[in-house]
Amino acid sequence: MTRCVVLALTVLGALAAGCQREPAATPAAPTPEAAPPTAPVETGENIYLTACANCHGADGRGEALKDRFGELPDLGAPEVQAKLTDEAIAETIRQGHGRMPDFSVVLSDDQIRQLPPYLRSMKR
Ligand code: HEC
Repeated sequence: MTRCVVLALTVLGALAAGCQREPAATPAAPTPEAAPPTAPVETGENIYLTACANCHGADGRGEALKDRFGELPDLGAPEVQAKLTDEAIAETIRQGHGRMPDFSVVLSDDQIRQLPPYLRSMKR
């Protein structure tokens, strides 16, 4: 039994010694140009892609879910754009519209405010 303990200690000692012989990792060179970490900028585009694109599609055409929802308005179509004011788009998002759920709990006012300008950028 004692031999076992001695053997075990010897093995541990050898392992520890082995570890000490590892070459010290070279510290990474400091990168002064690296920007400090900041929260990712929230844009109308990434809010749209997260909250809206699963129904309306990344391009706003709403093709993907036609089977489930029937006709979805093509958000980039000139006639849809002409029909909706920025405030009407914001209201649609806040209150929902027909089969579209309301987003007043999910999105803040700031986030909702960024969506009409993004929808305008989809105009074709
Ligand atoms: C669960 C699916 C779904 C999601 C998510 C969704 N929509 Fe909709 N949206 C619809 C449907 C369905 C309609 C058509 C509503 C109707 O006429 O019954 C619609 C209609 C609209 C309209 C047109 C309203 C009008 O007056 O004609 C706008 C603008 C719109 N959505 C914007 C958005 C935006 C912006 C988001 C993200 C915040 C979003 N939608 C998220 C399903 C969705």
